Amino acid sequence: VESCLNAAIAVELLHNFTLVHDDIMDQDDLRRGKPTVHKKWDEATAILAGDGLVALAYLFLQKTESDHIREICRIFTEGIIEICEGQALDKEFERLNRITVAQYLEMIEKKTARLLMLCTEIGGLIAGGSRVQIDALIDYARLLGLAFQIQDDLLDMEVSSGKSFASDIRQKKKTLLFVHAYNHASDLNRKKLAEIYQKSAIDLADIQEVQNIFHESGTLKFANKEVAKKIEQAERALKDLPKNRANSDLKELLQLILNRKS
Ligand code: IPE
Ligand code: MG
Ligand code: MG
Ligand code: MG
Repeated sequence: VESCLNAAIAVELLHNFTLVHDDIMDQDDLRRGKPTVHKKWDEATAILAGDGLVALAYLFLQKTESDHIREICRIFTEGIIEICEGQALDKEFERLNRITVAQYLEMIEKKTARLLMLCTEIGGLIAGGSRVQIDALIDYARLLGLAFQIQDDLLDMEVSSGKSFASDIRQKKKTLLFVHAYNHASDLNRKKLAEIYQKSAIDLADIQEVQNIFHESGTLKFANKEVAKKIEQAERALKDLPKNRANSDLKELLQLILNRKS
């Protein structure tokens, strides 16, 4: 664990950088039950705080003592580039009327799962894992990340998640909920959904209408099942890894994500 600490701090700083900038992009006022950085101060401060956090992340990453330090820096940097690509897709999809499930999965693998994948790859390298073991860890992280984001899409509709309520609907995000509802709603509901997502401003009545459509289309059930399925697949990815404390911690993390409410 000691040998991974600096890299772990780097990942935590990187994660917080992406959230500070994400809240500007998504125009959200609340994060972890507190005002977002750009709300508490202003956008310039939040942009700078984010920039500073990336620099701090590298400051810690380069302290890592490992024969693989060059590879670790490459993985970390390529991860950031892919997270930016994922965020770009997320923003681009706001303006599209519909996207496919495959496009959705590509977007969330990049914006969300990639961070977890770089965690397990770097951790595996520092710990001296074999290529096969590291690949299993990356697979685990990818599935955990996909489950995490689908769960995140569901939590958007909870008032007590510590984040702005229904932000995805207001921003016209093409979440799995939207994609599934659009494909499975009755003709009338599909028409209503399309009309709401074409409005210039979405109000509380619209949000309630969208939530009803999600409910009536079996979308919430579907999304919850998808989360459980990905969590199960992630657990299977661990099966050929040594049965030690770390393995059971990774398993426990799956249950934590499955049951999270914020
Ligand atoms: C954020 O996705 C992903 C990154 C920050 C890279 P979301 O925009 O869905 O995350 P929340 O809901 O604001 O936490
Ligand atoms: Mg956001
Ligand atoms: Mg976002
Ligand atoms: Mg979200």
